Amino acid sequence: MLDHVTAVRYVTPLREGGSMPGVVEADDLGTYVVKFRGAGQGVKVLVTEVIVGELARRLDLPVPRMVTIDLPPAIARYEADEEVQDLLNASPGTNLGMDLLPGSLGYDGSRPPSPELAARIVWLDAFTANVDRTWSNPNLLTWHRETWLIDHGAALYFHHSWPSKEPNPQRFAQQPFRADDHVLGGVATDLPGVHAELSARITPELIGDVLDQVPEDWLETTTHLTDTQAVRSAYRDHLLARVQNPAAWLPGGGA
Ligand SMILES: Nc1ncnc2c1ncn2[C@@H]1O[C@H](COP(=O)(O)OP(=O)(O)OP(=O)(O)O)[C@@H](O)[C@H]1O
Ligand SMILES: [Mg+2]
Repeated sequence: MLDHVTAVRYVTPLREGGSMPGVVEADDLGTYVVKFRGAGQGVKVLVTEVIVGELARRLDLPVPRMVTIDLPPAIARYEADEEVQDLLNASPGTNLGMDLLPGSLGYDGSRPPSPELAARIVWLDAFTANVDRTWSNPNLLTWHRETWLIDHGAALYFHHSWPSKEPNPQRFAQQPFRADDHVLGGVATDLPGVHAELSARITPELIGDVLDQVPEDWLETTTHLTDTQAVRSAYRDHLLARVQNPAAWLPGGGA
């Protein structure tokens, strides 16, 4: 499980984010960027943030530490901005917090990561089908002269069809990935070499450990996935099926 903290003060909204994340101080003296369960994007994007972010961390990619964070009702009561107040009121219970990287800048290409790190990031995005790392929305921060990964809510999009369709890991395994628009497409080298190393690290145990980090009450059951264990298993099956079929999604082919 992720560490759990309680919010003590809402500081400011980050209006450049579509889901309006907020900067929040917590009872562990940490300052977090919080993604709210009540945002229009829904709780599934928080699940994806944890799965892809914790997967990235286990593959030694730089991601801010994540926590679950409780919002006491009083935090909303003293908030003057009505839009923020509505979002806080819609988000009781467990939300997602991410260490704020103070003084970080949005990635602009002026200080690119090494070709090897770039390839690792492209690989992660291709594997998890993250379409949200383009020049219009890089979702990378430069901090302490290094490149950090944020915002994985758009990956693993297959779960959006679960309310109406039976989960289909093989279909996800065959989905191609377009690297042409990737913000690091021109920097990354040796994807086959990176694939050989990283794919070997994607074991059922590693995926199980990652899925254990997702809070129980974020997992939405459906007529096909009748309990939360079934939902966790469905994510596991999709990821394991995809890692075995790189020819479909690895830029340049992985056959
Ligand atoms: N850990 C962090 N430290 C510092 N700034 C951050 C952090 N996380 C996010 N930000 C800032 O907040 C902005 C919005 O964050 P993020 O992209 O995660 O939100 P979102 O609502 O998912 O956005 P999008 O509009 O891309 O869907 C980022 O572009 C960045 O400027
Ligand atoms: Mg973003």
